[in-house]
Amino acid sequence: MFKKTPGTKDILPDEVSSWQVIEETTRNIFSLYNYKEIRSPIIEEAALFNRSLGESAEIVQKQMFLVKKDKDVYALRPEGTAPIVRAYLENNLDKTAGLIKVYYIGPMFRAERPQKGRLRQFHHLGCEVIGSQEPYLDVEIISLADNLLKAYTIEGYEIKINSLGCAKDKKELTEILRNGLKPKLTKLCDDCKVRFKHNVLRILDCKNERCIEVVKELDIRQDHLCPECKRHFDKVKEELDSLNIGYKINPYLVRGLDYYTRTVFEIIHHDLGAQNALGAGGRYDNLVGDLGGPSLGAIGFAFGMERLLLVRSRELGVGSKDLVYVISLGEEAKKQGLKLLNNLRKEGIAADTDYEGKSLKGALRKANDLSSRLVLIIGEDEIKKNVVTLKDMVSGEQKEVRPENLIQELKSYNLTHNS
Ligand code: HAM
Repeated sequence: MFKKTPGTKDILPDEVSSWQVIEETTRNIFSLYNYKEIRSPIIEEAALFNRSLGESAEIVQKQMFLVKKDKDVYALRPEGTAPIVRAYLENNLDKTAGLIKVYYIGPMFRAERPQKGRLRQFHHLGCEVIGSQEPYLDVEIISLADNLLKAYTIEGYEIKINSLGCAKDKKELTEILRNGLKPKLTKLCDDCKVRFKHNVLRILDCKNERCIEVVKELDIRQDHLCPECKRHFDKVKEELDSLNIGYKINPYLVRGLDYYTRTVFEIIHHDLGAQNALGAGGRYDNLVGDLGGPSLGAIGFAFGMERLLLVRSRELGVGSKDLVYVISLGEEAKKQGLKLLNNLRKEGIAADTDYEGKSLKGALRKANDLSSRLVLIIGEDEIKKNVVTLKDMVSGEQKEVRPENLIQELKSYNLTHNS
């Protein structure tokens, strides 16, 4: 028998309602902030990611699922930011739409070693705003992330923020790190020795105990920030305070992707274990220009949906509709039942029936298993009397209703999500 590939997951019907609730909550909150949905392809030219995330980024070096077709090399998207900037430019949105606020929900792919909270196909729920460098926007983005988590009923998370500064400041920080780490190179792990050559910033988020010790001794602060970037970061902090959003400044937070500049943030949850980031994001003020567009500020973030589901403190109300279960016994009743189902659904009432030839008792048990709110029974008696028996599965009450009054009667129960 075939098995699913490592690091992927089947989301079975029983679990899907939790996903739908998260998705629905997400859409509601994003629309409160006036973000519109965007859907980009799952497959992109691999070079888009090399260029955006950086040749030395771990994702580019080791984790992209590459698909070769003739002379072209594509990648299953490992993240959503680069594709959205590509779509923004390719569709001339810089010329026609100006500032855009978009969100996305969908699968991403990284060939990582699977473990709890780390998959090879996982789902992002993220957003991007392209077209502004204003620090107020950084505050909107972080407050949006905070409000999403509250809406998912997630508690106990921590927001860490830092500023990398502009491209010049990042160079300066790289120099500070190079000079500080050079004499201690032998103490670093093998990966960090390579990072020292190609991407020294990444040494700051190495998880190796010895590297953490070495890095701590460097006593990094925000000294590398130019006056303008410092002002930007001060404003972000000030306005986060004014909104009472709790955060911790972490000068060691650098993020693994090359495109970040200025504000970066990460939201962690200790219940997640080793893979403790629920989500992360930041500014990428040079990416639009680097991909051939005008110089435009941009910022965004993404949450890992699987991780959100792991730490939700309680189930939100399941997003399913109240179900009406039709039990028709005998051939003539089945004919009528089929018509009845059709009418109910036309009226926006969720309805189902038994296709397994169960007895009345068996069908009632099935209705119960499906958590049906109401059951409609059509048997020989009902046909003779031209009625339908309506059973309220909550109170247990039962009554006969004439077919022409049935829809009205059902609507009086205020079934959820039905029109
Ligand atoms: P990222 O930090 O690579 O950022 O991913 C965001 C989140 O996706 C992580 O915090 C984590 O929750 C989840 N995640 C990442 N990899 C996996 C995995 N293998 N399995 C399960 N969950 C995972 C980005 O991708 C940026 N594009 C975010 C962004 C948007 N920055 C600006 N705009």
